[in-house]
Amino acid sequence: MVSSATAVPEVALRSGSARPMPAVGMGTAASHLDLVPEVTKDAVLAAIEVGYRHFDTAYMYGTEKPLGEAVAEAVRCGLIASREEVFVTSKLWCTQNHPDLVLPSLRETLKNLQMEYVDLYLIHGPVAQKPGPIAFPAKREDAVPFDFEGVWRAMEECQQLGLARAIGVSNFTTKHLNKILSVATIPPAVNQVELNPVWQQRTLRAYCAEKGIHVAAYSPLGGQNWDGTGNAVMASEVLAGIAKARGKTVAQVALRWIYEHGVTSIAKSYNKERLEQNLQIFDWELTDQDRLNISQIPQRKIVKIDSSLFSQEGEFTSVDPSDFDIVEE
Ligand SMILES: NC(=O)c1ccc[n+]([C@@H]2O[C@H](COP(=O)([O-])OP(=O)(O)OC[C@H]3O[C@@H](n4cnc5c(N)ncnc54)[C@H](OP(=O)(O)O)[C@@H]3O)[C@@H](O)[C@H]2O)c1
Repeated sequence: MVSSATAVPEVALRSGSARPMPAVGMGTAASHLDLVPEVTKDAVLAAIEVGYRHFDTAYMYGTEKPLGEAVAEAVRCGLIASREEVFVTSKLWCTQNHPDLVLPSLRETLKNLQMEYVDLYLIHGPVAQKPGPIAFPAKREDAVPFDFEGVWRAMEECQQLGLARAIGVSNFTTKHLNKILSVATIPPAVNQVELNPVWQQRTLRAYCAEKGIHVAAYSPLGGQNWDGTGNAVMASEVLAGIAKARGKTVAQVALRWIYEHGVTSIAKSYNKERLEQNLQIFDWELTDQDRLNISQIPQRKIVKIDSSLFSQEGEFTSVDPSDFDIVEE
């Protein structure tokens, strides 16, 4: 029905039976202002109209329900023929990172989404917290040892049951991936990590390329200033200079750079014009000089598990926080 929608390239995942993953997806981790279900639902419908077929949610974002409602409405009003046309990712939160909680958590996610399956189910991070309601920030003493083997076996069961077409991880370093790969029958299809011109993840990208794990980039535009320290991608003079020379925006330069590295961007916008702009990256290229200049941008990571997830008070009593350190240059 929407013939003017941008055609987005897709990548086939090396593990699982998910439909190919569109190279740019829409993120739905929303700030307080946007955290009204109707706002998410309307933004997803706008995204479907302009050509998005890839959506990223998580149990902890509280956006599974409005995303599912938007997809159902898009089918009802003929924007898409069926749910099969979209690629939907959701994630197992840290409180659910326990072997016996994985399958029930996915079933809850599917109920929220009103879907029979997710295309991709990810372990949200390499840290386990005591089961229970989500607390943000969490108490340090609620971090517990992560049973990588047991949790991954349960993830594999999710795929074997057809409830997740593919399974993967998020915020995993090469060290965490090694732990999974040493026990996996089904290797992770995807690792979703913070990645943009200001946090380029060279080591991890090389490792994942070698192991056949597709990399997806969260905060591709530098994030939503969660920590109040600004946005180093949007403020980058290097990117601004390239954007000016190419007649593009800084956001488009960041997304193009990510695409040229074979990485899928998960970009959040709830604004129809910016959603559309973020898909206009497939019919032009960066120059070698642009690539060189971007490779020299000083690196800075935003998300760090111990400071981003946990309260600064209290002690880690049953884990060593270096076990879930996700800073790897
Ligand atoms: N796995 C994980 O642990 C994890 C962590 C963080 C995020 N994620 C996922 O990744 C998604 C994206 O990451 P993110 O939300 O941190 O940040 P992001 O996509 O890097 O940046 C989003 C911010 O940029 C703005 N924006 C979007 N397009 C723009 C454009 N063309 N020009 C100027 N500003 C633009 C958005 O505002 P408007 O909405 O007003 O346009 C929003 O404030 C999340 O929504 C979530 O789905 C995953």
